[in-house]
Amino acid sequence: MTLTQVKDLSRHVGETVTIAGWLQNRRSKGKIHFLQIRDGSGVVQAIMGKQDVSEATFASCDNLPYEASLSVEGSVRADTRAPGGVELLVQRVTIHQVPSEEYRISKQEHGPDFLLSNRHLWLRSRKPHAILRVRDAVITAIRRFFDDRGFVCLDAPIFTPAACEGTTNLFEVQYFEEKCYLTQSGQLYMEAGAMAFGKVYCFGPTFRAEKSKTRRHLTEFWMVEPEVAYATLDDIMNLAEDFLCAIVKHVLEHRRPELETLERDLSKLERIQKPFPRMSYSEAAAFLQSRGLPFEVGNDFGAPDEAAISGAHDCPVMVHRYPAGVKAFYMKQDPADPRFALCVDVLAPEGVGEIIGGGQREDDLKTLENRIDEHKLSREPFEWYLDLRRYGTVPHAGFGLGLERTVAWICGTEHVRECIPFPRMLHRMYP
Ligand code: 4AD
Ligand code: MG
Repeated sequence: MTLTQVKDLSRHVGETVTIAGWLQNRRSKGKIHFLQIRDGSGVVQAIMGKQDVSEATFASCDNLPYEASLSVEGSVRADTRAPGGVELLVQRVTIHQVPSEEYRISKQEHGPDFLLSNRHLWLRSRKPHAILRVRDAVITAIRRFFDDRGFVCLDAPIFTPAACEGTTNLFEVQYFEEKCYLTQSGQLYMEAGAMAFGKVYCFGPTFRAEKSKTRRHLTEFWMVEPEVAYATLDDIMNLAEDFLCAIVKHVLEHRRPELETLERDLSKLERIQKPFPRMSYSEAAAFLQSRGLPFEVGNDFGAPDEAAISGAHDCPVMVHRYPAGVKAFYMKQDPADPRFALCVDVLAPEGVGEIIGGGQREDDLKTLENRIDEHKLSREPFEWYLDLRRYGTVPHAGFGLGLERTVAWICGTEHVRECIPFPRMLHRMYP
């Protein structure tokens, strides 16, 4: 049996096709059943007239419950009033399963806990479906962007011997007789990759034992991390800017109906064009103080600070040169003022905050050894990383973009937990 996807039905007007899916809604009026069937690619109304099918077939749909699985053969008719512009006139129906219990997710409102506990079913609903289709398009845009620019996709390991992003949020796992950590970032491995391939990226799950229950934190999230040999902070800022523009453009081109389902204000996304505003940490700090925010210079920005900075602009804001003390050990110090690091955070508009963190890496062996000591890290697990400074060290830079925060921004979703198929958080491991 050849199946036609609902999204393609408009190309089959006048033909007889078979679709297979699930019953999303049903209404009956005398001698007609109106069956709304979704197949994952779209929803179509199938119209079953009593005189067009056998008596048994018509009766089988009299009380068919939501989420019954069925395939339908019928002819495709154009109807400008129907969503997708077509409907299906039913000739034959095969019912695969009639659920014995009432479907748990009803049309009424449910609380977030109930929905998250039923995530395996909730995926079928309109809003999660739309968000995860946007996520899919963001992933395609990411891979295309780097592929078009000659980057090699290099995967980083998930079991790692060392901390990349500080020791406070590491997941420790038993690895045979030893302990190791789930990766916080593939960056250090991408630095090795950049020295071998020039331009590389990794894209995979990363783990942070975040005890904080915020709308921006997951314990397992996806990060894409490009790394470029012979690149400086400025180069990587330009790359991040082009990257975000390309992602937003791709989503606007390929996921407009989904963004409309989410009632996203598209004009806000259409305004994402380079150049993005750039400011140093010191300029951003002065801005916060001029707004009367209780910000202490020298600290990292908190969520309200980031919201205030990015809230003043339509485009993502690139804040560069944070105090070296609040950033990771591998950041290169600014030769113009070593109190600051050659780093950048990109803050997305509409209060979303940081979606990218990155910068130029320390490429001098002695300085890097000292930084590892200052951060009270053991040198031994970093020996391979130090080798990269022993054999043909060059300036290099890269960044990491959090996939779920980016999807949350593009979709206008409040919480990142809706932007990953099965979220992992402080109090959530099921399903
Ligand atoms: O700023 P972060 O910690 O940077 C790094 O890990 C660098 N090693 C990346 C690099 O330069 N290659 O994380 C990068 C991004 C953040 O900007 C944010 O978007 C996301 O990862 N992120 C999280 N997303 C969801 N939940 C969390 N707990 C996250 N922590 C970071
Ligand atoms: Mg960061």
